[in-house]
Amino acid sequence: MATHKTLLSMAADSWPVAKEELLRHVEDAVDVRRVGEECALVETERSTARDLAALALRVPLVFPRHLTNVVAEYDHAASGLESVVDFVDSAIREMASGAEVSLQIWLSGKTAYKFSQHDAWERAAQVLTDRGYQVGRTGSPLVVSICFTPKTAIVGVNRAADSLSSWPGGEVRLSKTPEQVSRAEFKLEELFKVYPIDEGIEPKGTALDYGAAPGGWTRILATRGYATTAVDPGDLDPRVLALPGVRHERTTAGNFLRDSTDRFDLIVNDMKMSPDRSSRLMVDSARLLKPFGVAVTTLKTGTHHVLEQVDEAFAILGAEYDIEFARQLRHNRNELTVVLRRFG
Ligand SMILES: C[S@@+](CC[C@H](N)C(=O)[O-])C[C@H]1O[C@@H](n2cnc3c(N)ncnc32)[C@H](O)[C@@H]1O
Repeated sequence: MATHKTLLSMAADSWPVAKEELLRHVEDAVDVRRVGEECALVETERSTARDLAALALRVPLVFPRHLTNVVAEYDHAASGLESVVDFVDSAIREMASGAEVSLQIWLSGKTAYKFSQHDAWERAAQVLTDRGYQVGRTGSPLVVSICFTPKTAIVGVNRAADSLSSWPGGEVRLSKTPEQVSRAEFKLEELFKVYPIDEGIEPKGTALDYGAAPGGWTRILATRGYATTAVDPGDLDPRVLALPGVRHERTTAGNFLRDSTDRFDLIVNDMKMSPDRSSRLMVDSARLLKPFGVAVTTLKTGTHHVLEQVDEAFAILGAEYDIEFARQLRHNRNELTVVLRRFG
């Protein structure tokens, strides 16, 4: 039986639950096998990466971050820099000649190659260019991927639109800036990169930030142009308090919700709270959100009974919201980020 193979990337710590989630939803799965720290091969009877991407967005599956159709797998011993030429050859067999392609290379786990990732990229890009392709790092409709794992080099080709992420292996890299007040900022920043919730919306309007201290998310929202109400019993960084449009309500989310009659364009929630409680609070907060307004919540599942907690949270949230996007982002640890849209 001819089967399809898809290379799937996820958080290393989430492998067992990512596998469980896949086996639950991918009906034609034949085999799911981890091949690197953050990646697995999914073998299916019919489903291609495109089908799996559509499934991941529809269900949603929360653990896959990146997908590509596997066109070749090379074992480690054979993988000198020269063999990069073979990798590229196997990739372009699947592609229309002269196409514009993004070339993406990443490592998954401890590898012992005698060449650097940079050299591999340059070499592969040269081969593609020599054969008439226009090569960049991102932004092309088609992506050639090479993932180096401890035992193999896996070559994939996929449409960018079916890859779940435009970053190599879904590894969104963000750098710390002097203005940053918390590491939690990376989570919201990453979300805006992988799922731009307010693209083209001007003016941005008003935002409510539950669990705001020390103020990282509030800072990002204020910087994007939202007049932001930050709710937290804890202190906000004075630099955040000084930003235009920022108001600190030093109270709990429950108290704020009870007393507020405001209406917001966006509600975000990064409170340390169990997923079921957090979800109930978001449902109760729907009345503070304008019709069709967007909400973002992290669900802090920890590491036990993760899928059960996610199921329960989604069932609760479904009373007031469509779940537009849900994923364990690269900057989420033992939690996921969910984008909700309030019913009209
Ligand atoms: C992970 S921190 C948030 C970090 C923030 N997003 C940032 O970027 O700086 C979680 C916050 O939730 C707050 N929190 C926990 N329970 C809360 C509640 N019931 N109401 C409001 N804030 C709460 C805590 O005080 C803590 O400041």
